[in-house]
Amino acid sequence: MRVLLTGGMGFIGSHTAVVLQEAGHEPVLFDNLSNADRSVASRIERITGRAPQFIEGDIRDGALLEKVLREEAVDAVIHFAGLKAVGESVVKPLEYFDNNLTGTLRLLEAMRASGVKRLIFSSSSTVYGPPAHLPLQETDPTGEATNPYGRTKIMIEEMLADLCRADPEWSAVCLRYFNPIGAHPSGLIGDDPNGIPNNLLPYVSRVANGRLPFLNVYGNDYDTPDGTGVRDYIHVMDLARGHAAALPYAMSHTGWRAVNLGCGRGYSVLEVVAAFEKASGRRVPVKFAPRRTGDIAANWCDPALARGLFGWEAKLTIEDMCRDAWRFESMRAAEAAAQTQS
Ligand code: NAD
Ligand code: UD1
Repeated sequence: MRVLLTGGMGFIGSHTAVVLQEAGHEPVLFDNLSNADRSVASRIERITGRAPQFIEGDIRDGALLEKVLREEAVDAVIHFAGLKAVGESVVKPLEYFDNNLTGTLRLLEAMRASGVKRLIFSSSSTVYGPPAHLPLQETDPTGEATNPYGRTKIMIEEMLADLCRADPEWSAVCLRYFNPIGAHPSGLIGDDPNGIPNNLLPYVSRVANGRLPFLNVYGNDYDTPDGTGVRDYIHVMDLARGHAAALPYAMSHTGWRAVNLGCGRGYSVLEVVAAFEKASGRRVPVKFAPRRTGDIAANWCDPALARGLFGWEAKLTIEDMCRDAWRFESMRAAEAAAQTQS
């Protein structure tokens, strides 16, 4: 199948491209490189032996998207492109609305014009807001986002639901990711945010490697077993396979669906730190800091729907996630050092 991956050069998109290629599909990566490096395409080629097609472009350019959808004979779209930093979205809400909402609108218009009506969308557990109970199920209420980033995810899910109600030919599968971490086992692609990382794993990796001095643990007074925040971490390779598993479903069903992608169990910040120390053989010094605004105590999902609809479940463990994140960090640091020397 020919699948357009908007944001396909990013963290989750690049891993999904690898899995799709290995399953015999032909991903077409469409990305404006605002948060990705051009070298990702050649790294994918080193992993799979085949260069993915990459088109540099912005999803707000509807005319270009329509041309690509037609000329590349695209069967389905997986829509990863978007801005994703929660804190930044609070400071720059209009940029988030423009990129994520306007961008999605232009994409949907281009898809309608070219007759491509199969879409998988990168949604987030953030759409649930503070959970009333755990595990979270798809039938639980949404709409409680505490920041503009989260609101764009809720609004896009609702746009897609309205579109599917208006035109019964559409299929829109909203995958609600829990906390994707880890990297491809080759160490060639992974999560390498610019600047100081906001998310736990990239931060822990840099502390373990000595690039940052210690981890601030945001809150140790939550109502959780050790007082630190609990999340449902999922290996990015499992998540990527979840997209491949959702594709046949999107092709053979119409209508709107939201589906959780997580492991169905939670780990605390301190448990993640301990697992990372074991995987890396390095120490990760921590300091307890006040709670981070907007954080919740705990969330994890019920992954049963994904199993039932797609025949998919997460297989990799927290040890696998930490081991692969560490390999990526070590290789990335070694590459950077070699570049400075040459
Ligand atoms: P990422 O930033 O690594 O990837 C997003 C990609 O989209 C980047 O390569 C970026 O250059 C591209 N992009 C951004 N705006 C664009 C535009 N206007 N036109 C074309 N390309 C554009 O992020 P990721 O972690 O791979 O996340 C992918 C998607 O999954 C995002 O929509 C994100 O909100 C969602 N998501 C991520 C997480 C997570 O923890 N990583 C959790 C839940 C949901
Ligand atoms: C965050 C976003 C969420 C988004 C997700 C993926 C917030 C409030 N939520 O989720 O909307 O979908 O990223 O991009 O930002 N932690 C520390 N120290 C750190 C970093 C994190 O203790 O330096 C803790 C957090 O308090 C939390 C856990 O680690 O308990 C996970 O944090 P993070 O990786 O940022 O993910 P979420 O907050 O779950």
